Amino acid sequence: MNRRVPIYEGKAKQLFEGPEPGTLIQHFKDDATAFNNVKKGVINGKGVINNRISEYLMLRLGEIGIPTHFIRTLNMREQLVKAVEIIPLEVIVRNVAAGSFASRFGVDEGAQLPYPIIEFCLKSDKLNDPIVAPEIIVAFQWAQPSELEDITSMALRINDFLSGLLLGAGIRLIDFKIEFGRHYEGNTVQVILADEISPDCCRLWDTKTGEKMDKDRFRRDLGKVEEAYREVARRLGVLPSDKEVAAKSPAASKKPVKLSAVKKKKTRK
Ligand code: TMP
Repeated sequence: MNRRVPIYEGKAKQLFEGPEPGTLIQHFKDDATAFNNVKKGVINGKGVINNRISEYLMLRLGEIGIPTHFIRTLNMREQLVKAVEIIPLEVIVRNVAAGSFASRFGVDEGAQLPYPIIEFCLKSDKLNDPIVAPEIIVAFQWAQPSELEDITSMALRINDFLSGLLLGAGIRLIDFKIEFGRHYEGNTVQVILADEISPDCCRLWDTKTGEKMDKDRFRRDLGKVEEAYREVARRLGVLPSDKEVAAKSPAASKKPVKLSAVKKKKTRK
């Protein structure tokens, strides 16, 4: 068996060196965290499901001309992606007031916003991902003005497309977080969609019942977490079999823990 070279380990994913220069292997873990790592747990099978959902959504976005880092799926938990220089921003798009937006502005969760609102947060666990104005992003050179323009237009296009796609599956896209990176090829550099799109980083509500079908079930101890992730995959037509969901891959090391056994620490909300 070949040893793999780990490049980076995040809270829900791990990156390994890819088989060809300029590529990486993105491994989806079952680990879940919330409130900047204060709450920790495991959502059994999440890695397998998020790998599938992210593949599906990135492919569909690619079809409408959004450049993405996705190359191909390697196995149940891993995909080959283009290596990028991550732009240190969490780009949040909101259609409906929820989460930190609802609490920050004292708005009822569920209030429809008149138009999609984009918020940029600085990707920094140490600083708790503070919201940052475009002027500050440019001043500190986290992104150039032209890159911010590209990011903004792609984020809005992604929002329109995903809102429609999910609506067709009986799911309302409340908000989501995406990340972008610089892809260097020869003498060119292009900003492309990176990271993942999955119930870990979206708010997804059932259109009929309003039931939450995303990581808020974990964050807020609502129960039926695994079921919600599976239901999103099922509605998108990408639900793997039970055997596949249980699949382990070489890098999966930690034993799954029952969610009920997860200790809750002080949260930021
Ligand atoms: P928020 O309302 O808590 O600011 O979250 C907005 C959206 O961003 C929501 O869909 C969840 C997602 N999100 C992440 O993906 N990672 C994070 O660290 C946070 C805080 C939110």
